[in-house]
Amino acid sequence: MTALLEVEHLSMRFGGLLAVNDLCFSAEHGHITAVIGPNGAGKTTLFNCITGFYKPQIGRMTLHGAAGPILLERLPDHRIAAEARVARTFQNIRLFPRMSVLENLMVAQHLPLMRASAFSLAGLLGLARFRRAEAAALDKARHWLDKVGLLSHADDEAGALPYGSQRRLEIARALCTDPVLLCLDEPAAGLNPRESADLNRLLLAIRDETGIGLLLIEHDMSVVMGISDRVVVLDYGRKIAEGPPDHVRHDPAVIRAYLGETEDEDLPSEVQADLSGGGDG
Ligand SMILES: Nc1ncnc2c1ncn2[C@@H]1O[C@H](COP(=O)(O)OP(=O)(O)OP(=O)(O)O)[C@@H](O)[C@H]1O
Ligand SMILES: [Mg+2]
Repeated sequence: MTALLEVEHLSMRFGGLLAVNDLCFSAEHGHITAVIGPNGAGKTTLFNCITGFYKPQIGRMTLHGAAGPILLERLPDHRIAAEARVARTFQNIRLFPRMSVLENLMVAQHLPLMRASAFSLAGLLGLARFRRAEAAALDKARHWLDKVGLLSHADDEAGALPYGSQRRLEIARALCTDPVLLCLDEPAAGLNPRESADLNRLLLAIRDETGIGLLLIEHDMSVVMGISDRVVVLDYGRKIAEGPPDHVRHDPAVIRAYLGETEDEDLPSEVQADLSGGGDG
């Protein structure tokens, strides 16, 4: 079967810095593919290339969605979201804090709603087609709010939610756009161990119920090792390892990247615990 996303020889340079360096990997339909690596390894830059925020100087990113292959590097970001159906969440939460939880999810669906209105005021004011589209958008919003455990908070102000709930709302918002590929940039950042265990369950449920591909940047090894089907490890923009979690966590190059250069073959126990997803997760 063809991969959902194929990244081939991708390079992204900022002046003298090669943030992503000749990167090749693929992400499968129905899989959680984790992208890990030390700070500054190029993970967010990779997401910014996939979602069209940056245009890489070299390389090809092919998304094999329902409509056939799409070359992402050729599309502006709004078309990547709407046509290629790639959705993302951000390392720093970007919700509309003064809007309600439900409104945040309705705004995410503005495009199908505007299409149903034929982009006209008359359409907005009365057409049955618009009302049907609005009802469908509301249904979808409620469905994902329920899945992320926020249905009873639909009318709360998004900015007033606890941090962990805002993270889940961002995921629900991305899912309301019906993506085939969902890119999550450190969804477990700032979560306590219980919330991060809940996040694991949520991401597995999304994978299993939708069959879409998830691309996950994460530092929390209890999440990465617990739920990933495959792990890609970056260091200084290059891929240094790739494979199932069990394979990657024992890879000497991965351990070295997390430790820094060292002569000592015996790793400190806290590094081993971290890579094995141990600790309190
Ligand atoms: N817009 C930019 N202009 C210049 N340099 C950038 C830009 N964006 C990222 N970089 C640099 O590219 C490198 C990779 O950054 P990136 O944010 O992709 O790392 P990361 O793996 O996401 O790190 P972290 O785990 O800390 O989030 C870093 O050295 C960063 O300073
Ligand atoms: Mg980052």
